[in-house]
Amino acid sequence: MNTKTINFQVEKTAESKINAVDWDNLPFGKVFSDHMLEMDYADGKWQDPVIRPFQDLKMHPATSVIHYGQSIFEGLKAYRKEDGSVSIFRPEMNGKRFAESCKRMCMPELSPELFVELVAKLVEIDEAWVPKKEGYSLYIRPFLFAMDDYIGIKPSDTYKFMIFTCPVGAYYAQPLNVKIEENYTRAAEGGVGRAKTAGNYAASLYPAMLGQKEGFHQLVWTDAKEHKYIEESGTMNIMFVIDDVLITPSEESDTILRGITKRSVVEVAQQWGMKVEERKVTVEEIITACKEGRVQEAFGAGTAATIAPIKMIGFRDEKFELPAVETREFSNKVHQYLDDLKIGKIADENNWVFNV
Ligand code: PLP
Ligand code: COI
Repeated sequence: MNTKTINFQVEKTAESKINAVDWDNLPFGKVFSDHMLEMDYADGKWQDPVIRPFQDLKMHPATSVIHYGQSIFEGLKAYRKEDGSVSIFRPEMNGKRFAESCKRMCMPELSPELFVELVAKLVEIDEAWVPKKEGYSLYIRPFLFAMDDYIGIKPSDTYKFMIFTCPVGAYYAQPLNVKIEENYTRAAEGGVGRAKTAGNYAASLYPAMLGQKEGFHQLVWTDAKEHKYIEESGTMNIMFVIDDVLITPSEESDTILRGITKRSVVEVAQQWGMKVEERKVTVEEIITACKEGRVQEAFGAGTAATIAPIKMIGFRDEKFELPAVETREFSNKVHQYLDDLKIGKIADENNWVFNV
């Protein structure tokens, strides 16, 4: 579809729900803005997008996504800038990742340009829902799922692309205790770990629940073959500062989601002249560094999670407490830098901020 000729059909809500929002107590993902966007794929092509009041969907019980999980999503955020306008952080990266997820899951691709345009249009319509309070943002959830009513296994012929938005506060309220997982696996080589597909999250629920019973907020996934290499953690990529070097698992294996927050942190660190190593990271080296007191910082990086400090790492029967969060120079500085960038407090030298 040529993005310049998008024919939006917009049906505005008769009654906004915005006055009912408690802006000082926003839970993550439970408050939904007034409108949503729908765009169907049928007859081998994308149909015109429609923006309508947020509402339930009606589905045939045999809708193929319910049975076989041909479903992908994205997560990005819009921010209220200091001058009152609205920005979105690197949305074209989400558009590219969405197209890659489409390909892996055998779904029709949207161009990253179209993706960004659809996101921007919905945010523009619900602009009033972008929180004004510092530390809050509008979480944007684009998703695509298979719509055929057919119980045979094949790629669907029809799909629905949708976007809705939620004003949100923090995803994690406190620094995290994580456990290095050696029994269960999030993703295996050749599988769908790199795609942002629903089943990856479903597969993580049971092991995460077991971890929570032991007092861990999140698991750190390791490779499926040997449980020897660190991969990522829950809804975040994982990063360490050890001996003043920023270390993070490389993305060459197809088991790790290619995170936009992590990419931004790596790029900023390099621009600041910090030594960065993106490579295979062994469990052994992290545990040894913990024992020797060389882990200066550990944190998760993700859109919902932002920069989430890791307080303690559990491995087998041991628990390693990491340095106090206030003492962590790099992650605190990069967190502040990214926050400031998104709200227009500092110059956007990398051209990462998309202005709505
Ligand atoms: N890894 C997983 C499994 C995720 O769900 C997320 C969140 O999107 C990330 C990593 C971080 O990616 P991003 O920084 O693009 O949000
Ligand atoms: C995101 O950070 O956008 C995620 O995908 C996490 C989400 C599962 C809440």
